Amino acid sequence: MFADFADQWTPVLPSSDVRAKPRRVVVAGEALVVWRDNAGRAAVLLDRCPHRSVSLALGSRTREGGLACKFHGWEFGTDGACAYVPFNPQAPRERLGATAVPHRELGGMLWVYTGFDPQTEPYLPEHLRDDEGAEQLTRFYYHEEWDAHWTRAMENMLDYPHLPFVHRNTIGRFVRAKATRSSRLIFDLTDTAQGFRFGAQLDDHEPSAWLRWLRPNSMILDVAPEPRMMRIQTYCIPAEPGRVRMLLVTARNFSRNPLASPALDRLNVFILHQDRAVVESSDPVEVPPGKHEKSVRTDRPTLEFRSWYLRELKGSSAAPPAPGAPPASAARAGSGEAGGR
Ligand code: FES
Repeated sequence: MFADFADQWTPVLPSSDVRAKPRRVVVAGEALVVWRDNAGRAAVLLDRCPHRSVSLALGSRTREGGLACKFHGWEFGTDGACAYVPFNPQAPRERLGATAVPHRELGGMLWVYTGFDPQTEPYLPEHLRDDEGAEQLTRFYYHEEWDAHWTRAMENMLDYPHLPFVHRNTIGRFVRAKATRSSRLIFDLTDTAQGFRFGAQLDDHEPSAWLRWLRPNSMILDVAPEPRMMRIQTYCIPAEPGRVRMLLVTARNFSRNPLASPALDRLNVFILHQDRAVVESSDPVEVPPGKHEKSVRTDRPTLEFRSWYLRELKGSSAAPPAPGAPPASAARAGSGEAGGR
């Protein structure tokens, strides 16, 4: 399961899109059902009823906050345990459970673990933490799906030299204004605990943008000099094969005027859309080994990501627990308690 993306934490939806009504969401080829229980805690199961394998997302929340399958009404708790089998009071319910998926709700998003025994917690960058001046920030969440492999989208997000071309009238405008045909771009790439970071320097100009890669699938771009903060973060979430869910998070510490916010938010969505046609045109769909495409010095960040993906994630998969027996870690996660940062 979760082929080529196993044992990773990834956000899947903004918290505001997780409601009492069960919702199907596909992550790395696996369909999940997400909903909120009576106490408002998020729950996540594989979207497959253990009885006849239909989608649990067609069902509804039970009075107790669990999930009732639409087909024959079997009921499951948020940990996947089978709670009720109509017309079969003697049924061995301990062997009839659905499969719970480890999850957390952090930073305004629902995260899932693409495996069944997480040994780590999601990494939250500073602008998503609630304890570090979050009240000073205006955050915005947006998501949509593209017809692209997530690795192509991820590379696009880590690719600085495309800014003055794809984003010529938005975030690439200033690079375009300063660049000449003999200009050089310098990246001071530094490894971090989560991936790498670099500032992009054009000729002798001070770096005007700072970009971070957070393994496995996120990019943060800072486009405003301190003390201002204008941060654009994207998560490239593998969905169905050949589809990627682009989850955009922005945070800024200025223009808190509610009248100005919609315009700035629309601009950031527009910037995201500027990338879409280029990324969706990629052929082959998934990033190939580096030597299969011609590269230059300024491709270093994308090649670093590509090497990591092909080495660490490609070919990975997770084995589900035995039917009806969610592991302790998944059951713990099902409590919806926030994990560490
Ligand atoms: S298929 Fe779900 S209860 Fe029968």
